[in-house]
Amino acid sequence: METSGVLGADPPRFGSAEAEQLARTRFGVDGHATPLVSERDQNFLLATDAGHGWVLKISNAAEDPAVVEMEVAAVARVAALEPDLPVPVALPADDGRTVISARSPAGTEHVARLLPAFGGAHLAPRDLDAPDIRSLGTMVARLARALRGFFHPAAGRVIEWDLQHLPRLAEHADAVRDPARRALLDEVLARYRDRVLPALPRLRAQVIHNDVTLDNLLFADGAVSGILDFGDMAHTALVFDIPATLQSLLRDRTDLFEVTGAFVEGYATVTPLESEEAELLGDLLAARMAQTILISAWRMPRWPENDYITGWAEPAWTLLDQLREVGFALAGQRIASLALTPGAAEPPPEAELIARRRVLGNALSPLTYRHPLHLVRGRGAWMYDAAGRAYLDAYNNVPVVGHAHPRVVEAIARQASLLNTNTRYLHSSVVELGERIVASMPPGLDTVTFVNSGSEANDLAWRLATTVTGARGGIVSEWAYHGVTAAIADLSPSEWPRGERPDGVATIPAPDPFRGVYRDLPDPARRAQAAMADAVAQLAAGDRRPAAVFLDAFFTSDGIFAPSADLLAGLIGEARSAGALWVADEVQSGHGRGGDGLWGFATWGELPDIVTLGKPMGNGHPIAAVVTRGEIMDRFAAETEFFSTFGGNPVACAAALAVLDVIRDEGLVARAASVGARLRDGLRELAGRHPAIGDVRGRGLLVGVELVVEGTDRQPDAALARWVRDEMRERGVLIGSTGRAGNVLKIRPPLCIGPDEADLVLETLGQVLRARRS
Ligand SMILES: Cc1ncc(COP(=O)(O)O)c(C=O)c1O
Repeated sequence: METSGVLGADPPRFGSAEAEQLARTRFGVDGHATPLVSERDQNFLLATDAGHGWVLKISNAAEDPAVVEMEVAAVARVAALEPDLPVPVALPADDGRTVISARSPAGTEHVARLLPAFGGAHLAPRDLDAPDIRSLGTMVARLARALRGFFHPAAGRVIEWDLQHLPRLAEHADAVRDPARRALLDEVLARYRDRVLPALPRLRAQVIHNDVTLDNLLFADGAVSGILDFGDMAHTALVFDIPATLQSLLRDRTDLFEVTGAFVEGYATVTPLESEEAELLGDLLAARMAQTILISAWRMPRWPENDYITGWAEPAWTLLDQLREVGFALAGQRIASLALTPGAAEPPPEAELIARRRVLGNALSPLTYRHPLHLVRGRGAWMYDAAGRAYLDAYNNVPVVGHAHPRVVEAIARQASLLNTNTRYLHSSVVELGERIVASMPPGLDTVTFVNSGSEANDLAWRLATTVTGARGGIVSEWAYHGVTAAIADLSPSEWPRGERPDGVATIPAPDPFRGVYRDLPDPARRAQAAMADAVAQLAAGDRRPAAVFLDAFFTSDGIFAPSADLLAGLIGEARSAGALWVADEVQSGHGRGGDGLWGFATWGELPDIVTLGKPMGNGHPIAAVVTRGEIMDRFAAETEFFSTFGGNPVACAAALAVLDVIRDEGLVARAASVGARLRDGLRELAGRHPAIGDVRGRGLLVGVELVVEGTDRQPDAALARWVRDEMRERGVLIGSTGRAGNVLKIRPPLCIGPDEADLVLETLGQVLRARRS
């Protein structure tokens, strides 16, 4: 970087007498001048007899007068919009201007202005407690909010203290001779290059103060009495204000996360951070330290006696050391959590939350994992707990396009800020969503009804099937789960109280190639036919005919199976010949999970009568649907009408449309296929080394790993599955378990998971299985 410009030029050299004269002749202020410290300008405190204090600020000769005009205008704007922020509004001179020209004894021209001198004292970081820090956060945000629409051509100038220009300072890194320090600095610069630079164009940008430090703040009676020095203002990323102040607050303190948490909490009460800003904050703080170090390295040889320039470098190294000790990535995640979940600085202890959870009653499913998780946010395939620890989510299918996907979040927020109503009013999004779902289905499935959960979708499917067939029997797989309503809980053997089969429900065996009727069979289709005929006969014994057979394409709850089209054709053909409708439950298997089109049933080559959708449909926002043929719905409509208050509401539809868009635009179906294949390949390799892995199966990004007791004939090892699941969680990777015996590891991540993340799942599972042997 060139050493010209304001930071490269000598400060002005006026004497106190000249300063006094200037104040008297141009501003009519009679006072006694005392020089104040300044990095690049010359400031004089003018004490008047009337007890008023003023500061005569004479700018560096290299300072562009337009910049000074910008400062004066910005301060005037803040004073107008936030009158109780104590900012220094310039006093007009004899000609009415607030910025005047002054000639130094050496003959150089400078711009000068007279600002009020605020009473109060500077405080040190240690003087501030959490509420003080929180209110400083609020103040910095208010200051920036007041400048939100502010424009001045001079704001586009390049200044070294603007973090967006950090790469220009990198050439001064050679001045850092200590190899360990140099490596640390290089790491920070590399993280800035890799993480911050590409994101910069997306960050909110405006003119910011950029230097609200304790050096520029005065305090009186426990509150800020003066905000000084708008000289580092720049049009840059809004969030850069935060590291600038934090640097100052963290000097000589070790409670990095407490201070940061309190500050961002206060800031967020005025301006909540966007997630990308929050996620970069740790790196921005480190970058601000690097910037300080580099500016100091550059300027020290020229002004070795200027403490202001050199005094910040050591504290900057100290803070970088603190961040490095935690790990830049981890520290960044923790800071992001603090910024995005205000109050998370002091989350309620987990034990307390667990105890208070009693209010939710005993019927609620238990918490997952030996050490339950208290998760507070997510992004992509990652979730973060209250302490900021990251977990790779290889389990949740609901956030199908990734946690908190910005397009889905934005779609929900936009529609929620407009209107949320119901399907008794015209709205285009519900119609568009219906059309897009129909377009994604095979011809014939042309009618869509929206509800709010997979259970409701299946419940409506059951009502359609019983109405159309006049029959009252249901057939499901032996450990199926289809939902919670009374009718559907009956059709969910995994939920049957004490395993008792309700009247009118028959089961077929799961298509397990290693057990039961499908074991070692040459002709699975015939076996399937026989199994279904058996189920129909069971119903007939209770005087029922089958109204519907419900099947999850991948038999998730039964232990994850992806049977052949032949086998399925056998099942469905037999059920249909007994008069049953086929309900393809796509609540788990839909929305691209199978890696082969959007819908799992499509690979079977048969056309379902009814398809139910749910879980991933809104990426976490509740929405579900029933898709069927028009004539089936017409038969139902002849008997009754259907209305669900929330079903198909505009906000839910906006979410579902955004999900379909993202799946398409990000190529997530193809990704499910390729990353799923990579996972299964890796798992099969692991199976070669660990006989406890009895089988690896599934489709796309639904992967089952069956664990068996070594040396037995595939005896299920549910205890091992539980242990592996818990150990994976301890190591930061979340998976689940499924199957009748609970011995099948369920790996079912958001479809945005990448190959590196899949490798992390494999590596962690390998470590866990090795740890078990040692
Ligand atoms: C296959 C299947 N169908 C239906 C449901 C019920 O969905 P919901 O919990 O949204 O009611 C589930 C839930 O796990 C499911 O896995």
